[in-house]
Amino acid sequence: MAVVTINGCSRTAEEGTLLSDAVSPHAHLETPCGGLGRCGKCRVTARGALSRPSAEEIRLLSPEELANKYQDHMTPIALTAAIAG
Ligand code: FES
Repeated sequence: MAVVTINGCSRTAEEGTLLSDAVSPHAHLETPCGGLGRCGKCRVTARGALSRPSAEEIRLLSPEELANKYQDHMTPIALTAAIAG
């Protein structure tokens, strides 16, 4: 279990849960491409352990954003990034 804080409210989530699944019940998440990993509009700022970058993240995020994914502030694509602990 990981603790996920969304808009100041903490909840628990299983490892492997997509960020979009953790966020969507508690906050509105724009998903213009319906989660196909094409638009990059479902970016969220996250802290903590996340899955390795997906092919969609590698394609959609800048080199700086990808480098930051493993630091304190990350901007992953919520529909492809999963909680890793
Ligand atoms: S909704 Fe398009 S990449 Fe996330």
